[in-house]
Amino acid sequence: MTTQGRARFIIDPHSKPAFTRFSRLHEDRARVRFVILAPERAYEIDAISLAVLRLIDGDTTVTAIAARLAAQFSAPLDVVTRDVTTLLQGLADKCLLRDGPDAFAPPPLSSRARAYGSFAGGPAGLLAELTHRCPLQCPYCSNPLELERANVELSAAEWGETFRSAAAIGALQLHLSGGEPTLRRDLEEILQHAVDAGLYTNLVTSAVMLTRERLETLAEIGLDHVQVSIQDVDPATADRVSAYEGGVAKKRDVASWTRELGLGLTINAPIHRQNIDHLPEIIDFAVEVGAQRLEVAHIQYYAWAEKNRAALIPTREKFLESASVVDAAKARLKGVLNFDFVIHDHYATRPKTCTGGWGRSIIAVTPSGKALPCHAAQTLPGLAFDNVRDRDLGDIWRNGSAFNAFRGTDWMKEPCRSCDRREIDLGGCRCQAMAVTGDPAATDPACHLSPEHARFAGLAEVEAHAPPPTFIYRRIGGAVTRESTPESP
Ligand code: SF4
Ligand code: FES
Repeated sequence: MTTQGRARFIIDPHSKPAFTRFSRLHEDRARVRFVILAPERAYEIDAISLAVLRLIDGDTTVTAIAARLAAQFSAPLDVVTRDVTTLLQGLADKCLLRDGPDAFAPPPLSSRARAYGSFAGGPAGLLAELTHRCPLQCPYCSNPLELERANVELSAAEWGETFRSAAAIGALQLHLSGGEPTLRRDLEEILQHAVDAGLYTNLVTSAVMLTRERLETLAEIGLDHVQVSIQDVDPATADRVSAYEGGVAKKRDVASWTRELGLGLTINAPIHRQNIDHLPEIIDFAVEVGAQRLEVAHIQYYAWAEKNRAALIPTREKFLESASVVDAAKARLKGVLNFDFVIHDHYATRPKTCTGGWGRSIIAVTPSGKALPCHAAQTLPGLAFDNVRDRDLGDIWRNGSAFNAFRGTDWMKEPCRSCDRREIDLGGCRCQAMAVTGDPAATDPACHLSPEHARFAGLAEVEAHAPPPTFIYRRIGGAVTRESTPESP
């Protein structure tokens, strides 16, 4: 295993904890609470934690923090010291704290953001697909089959209006995504709108078009976090999967710049049969470049990925091996690298609560302004999507027909309707149900109670054991099939 990267921050009495450049306390005015804003997360905190976290400034020791709180609450010093240390160690292990003051300061909250009112049941995040244009042609692309062209994209001002509307109804996180968002020449202006709206900003990028100078500018404007997607760490495989040459070296550069600039860094690694054996090296890569998070994401087979399923699907044994590799790395890299492991649905017995529940957690907005309850919602038939150009986002969220189509549990059929897990997983993924069964209201076939589950799992076993077909690459304007198997790169 590599020894580069960061060391775990162990909290002791002499530690002087402070939030990193990419995490902070935030008043969530829509929900009338305080949270810690962090890469792709918002952690709700109670009043006692808030009292502790208001005292961390990079200059005050844990001993001094505990003494002050013990006096303030007339509590035993040893108990307070233990509780403070436990709280801070938990945050340090999420890579949200540093020892000593930070040279970087987050942008102050704008007066607009300080004036938001309460809003019950709003979204936690906004996925802004700034463009569908992309220099890569990944065979598992989750963008819709019909890509939107540059001449219909929302302007920076329209995105600004959308961000302000989203923040006003409770969105905390903004994912600037695509396609490749850095292809927007006005990305800086778009980001400035997001910062003014008070959103935690996450740039989701393939990194191949970014320069250090541009990243510095984005950091100065107030970018919080960068998610760099990788296809593999083996250059030949990465080039073949993305149909783009030289991506690995570029991603390594951008990841290093991100860390040097003090921004948060997640490496996103979609995993499939053609890179699954490189998972240990992918984990090493994430450590080497100083990422705080690694997403090991088994592919979801809808939209374009469905066309390439047989070329991508791993065997059950390989999937289980990948889970073991991640479990071992989690233990080994505690406090150094955090993991998100997205399981392979074909080998699951329970479905995921997809997108945090339909109409519950996120809004996705396409380049032309269509507001979607999930980024793949256009694969479902019969839904009408409102456009942020025509209708207020808060009204779309509350009353839009697409957002209400699968919200809650009333739409469910059996076996979900009478299942005691229906409020937990909300029936799983609508897009996967549609892709496999042809019925968007069916039980997600990842669930062992779905009548389609055995066929779903069996299909994977058959395809995964057959030789992989060539990839069907995607391009704006049409599909391209080229030799792509490992034997013929
Ligand atoms: Fe979830 Fe439906 Fe399966 Fe129950 S039957 S576990 S609600 S997907
Ligand atoms: Fe659309 Fe799961 S991807 S609901």
